[in-house]
Formats: sequence, structure tokens, C-alpha cells
Amino acid sequence: MRVITKIDELKKVISEYRNNGKSIGLVPTMGALHNGHISLVKRCLQENECCVVSIFVNPTQFNDKNDLKHYPRTPKEDCELLESVGCNIVFAPEVEEMYPEEDTRVFNLGSVANVMEGKFRPGHFNGVAQIVSKLFYAVEPDKAYFGEKDFQQIAVIRAMERQINTGVEIIDVPIVRENDGLAMSSRNRRLTETQRKNAPKIWETLSKSYTFAQSHSVEETINFVVDSLNSIPEFKVEYYEIVNAESLQPITNWDSNVRAVGCIAVFCGEIRLIDNISYCVK
Ligand code: PAJ
Repeated sequence: MRVITKIDELKKVISEYRNNGKSIGLVPTMGALHNGHISLVKRCLQENECCVVSIFVNPTQFNDKNDLKHYPRTPKEDCELLESVGCNIVFAPEVEEMYPEEDTRVFNLGSVANVMEGKFRPGHFNGVAQIVSKLFYAVEPDKAYFGEKDFQQIAVIRAMERQINTGVEIIDVPIVRENDGLAMSSRNRRLTETQRKNAPKIWETLSKSYTFAQSHSVEETINFVVDSLNSIPEFKVEYYEIVNAESLQPITNWDSNVRAVGCIAVFCGEIRLIDNISYCVK
């Protein structure tokens, strides 16, 4: 496995693979890797002859500078884990390499970027589009892999790709959970013992709401989730929205022809966790 920190060298190494007719897959990450990330890497390895994993805590997507400062960084463990699963290239640049000067690009990503995370984390998706587009230009992968844990992020990246048109195929990969149901996240390791004990209630409540939804309205289902989670000490729901899985716009009624997804952001103390669930209401 090669660990590369410079774009020029990355391009050179990748062009050797490409000139030998090898397909290139990219898994963008911010490191502090866990099995959720690794499921993307494994899928990438299955479908490509060269798997590139980027590790870069992207400052432009953090609207909360405190979150950026405390974001976990475990480069040594990340590289060991990636080596053990057979990753070919790790790209781990410094901030100056990706942003030698301020990135002033403003993406117009349409309505999928304005709701939920877009509403509560202003500038976040523009920062994601900045870094992912730079990675697409640097790696020129055939396919790039993203987790459904960040459901809205996938829609935003598809919107970005339609605009920059690099021809990268975007592949979405299902959420990986801990045994107790908590969606794996680099931020989980920042939870206190009590918060960590309560955090599985997010997925438990979403799962219960699936059954609840079969005999209740969309609004009642939203209230069920918000009220259940807000009753847990230290938990505060920032938003729970049930949206059309394509447009990401809120739905008001169940419609068996429209795939509905419930997306949640919850503060557990200071730590903000997200999760989502697909509904199928007849
Ligand atoms: P990060 O949070 O490190 O996540 C990297 C990728 O792993 C994302 O596509 C995310 O959806 C996926 N992922 C995280 N937890 C997962 C889980 N439990 N199951 C499945 N997939 C999971 O998302 C980012 O980084 C950044 O925004 C990035 C795209 C790298 C741009 O900076």
C-alpha cells in the first residue's frame, strides 16, 4: 500500500494503473476509520483493480470550528486498517496541498442541498462539493463510493457531479451499525459513557416508527420520533424530516409510489449524530 501526500505524485502513480488498463475506485473519508468506512473500501476493492482511499479532515465543510478542532485523527491506525484489507493507495494530504489558496467556488446544488443538513449547517455542502470535486479531478476515478449514513450527502454529490461532469459513477453503500443498532460514526468515540449507552435509542426509535407509520400520518410519525428522543436526558433532536428519497423535499402524506426516507440529526450533549430510515407504508 502506498501512502501519498502530494497531488502530483498521486496523479503519477494512478496514471501507471490507468495505462495498464486498471479501473480506479475512490473512497473519500475524513479518517478515524471504522467498519462503516471499511465496507465502502471492501466494495471498492471488489469492483476496481485499484482502490484509492483519501483521508482528509476538510476544513471548508465544518461550519462549527469547535467540531473541526475536536474531530478525531488516527492516521496510524487508519493506515494499518487499510493495509490489512488490501487498499492500494492512501491519499493523505495536508490542508495546504488541497487549498494552496482559498477555494472561492460557490456551487449551486439546487433544492437537495437547501433542506435538513443544508439548512442547519450553512456552507457545509459547499465545502463537501469543493473537496470532493478536487478529489475527483486529482484521482479521476471510474467510481466513487459514499455511505447512505450521510443520505443527503449522496444526493448533493450526485448534483455536483451533474454540474462538473467528470463522468465518475457515484455508488451508494448501506449503513453499517454497531451490534446495538447505533450507526457507526467517527464521532461516536466522543460520546460519554451515558451518552453512548443511550445513543442506540436513535435507531431503536426510528425502527419503532416504521411500525408506527403503518397506522399513523407522516406528521404523527415525526412527532412520535421527536418526542421519544427528546425525552432522553441530554438528547435534543435538531430536526426529523420525512422526505421524498429523490428530491429530498418533505412529504405530507404516505404514497406507496414514492420512496420515503426519515432523516434525523440529534445532539447527544455536544455531539451531533445523524441517522436515517427508509419507510414503506402501504
Ligand atoms: P466521513 O464522515 O469520514 O465518511 C466517509 C464516508 O463513509 C462517507 O461516504 C460516509 O457516508 C461513509 N460512512 C460513514 N459512516 C458510515 C456507516 N456507519 N455506514 C456506511 N457508511 C458510512 O462523509 C465524509 O467523511 C466527508 O463529508 C467526505 C465525503 C469525505 C468529504 O470530506
